[in-house]
Amino acid sequence: MRAVLLAAVILFRLTITLGHDRNTDAPEACGTHGVCTCTTGRSGIDVDCNELNLTEIPRDLPRNSTIVKLAKNFLEEVPSNSFRGLSKMFKLFLGYNNISKLPADVFVSCPELEILKISYNNIQQMPDQLLTFSRKWIIIDLSHNQLTDLPETFFQNQSVLSQV
Ligand SMILES: *[C@@H]1O[C@H](CO)[C@@H](O)[C@H](O)[C@H]1NC(C)=O
Ligand SMILES: *[C@@H]1O[C@H](CO)[C@@H](O)[C@H](O)[C@H]1NC(C)=O
Ligand SMILES: *[C@@H]1O[C@H](CO)[C@@H](O)[C@H](O)[C@H]1NC(C)=O
Ligand SMILES: *[C@@H]1O[C@H](CO)[C@@H](O)[C@H](O)[C@H]1NC(C)=O
Repeated sequence: MRAVLLAAVILFRLTITLGHDRNTDAPEACGTHGVCTCTTGRSGIDVDCNELNLTEIPRDLPRNSTIVKLAKNFLEEVPSNSFRGLSKMFKLFLGYNNISKLPADVFVSCPELEILKISYNNIQQMPDQLLTFSRKWIIIDLSHNQLTDLPETFFQNQSVLSQV
């Protein structure tokens, strides 16, 4: 009888856990249940989510994140709002995933972005508006993707570049 009860409890818990997993959004980035390693630097938070087998970008990235590392995961999609409000982020690492495209407005609130590494993915096209939101001259690593060419206007309005 106890064994049956125990089994029932386990089954019940398993159902809850499975159901929960299926319905949860992305894991939390920092915070109590955070999956990433979040360390406070002089100018903001360094969020390290490299090599965590992530299939989704963790949610609630701190607004004062300066460096966000998401390399070597299994990311395929980068939703538009992934980096919303990260006004201090200047480095973003997305290399070694399976990302096929970036939404044009994904960096709309990231004026400080300077370094974007997205090598070793599956990108075929880059939206031409992607970099227009940054006030900086971005170093972008797009190597090892499926890109054949970049839109003519891709680097247009890059403040420093346009002065060269
Ligand atoms: C980052 O923001 C959090 C929450 O707003 C705050 O507690 C923390 O002190 C901030 N850290 C830095 C380095 O700005
Ligand atoms: C990622 O998956 C591999 C293979 O299943 C496993 O060995 C590794 O421990 C996982 N890493 C994390 C951080 O869960
Ligand atoms: C990468 O994503 C594509 C779809 O965009 C999928 O067909 C392919 O199987 C994925 N590759 C890996 C290694 O997950
Ligand atoms: C560059 O800036 C001009 C004027 O602000 C704007 O009309 C144009 O669409 C911008 N180009 C891109 C590629 O965003």
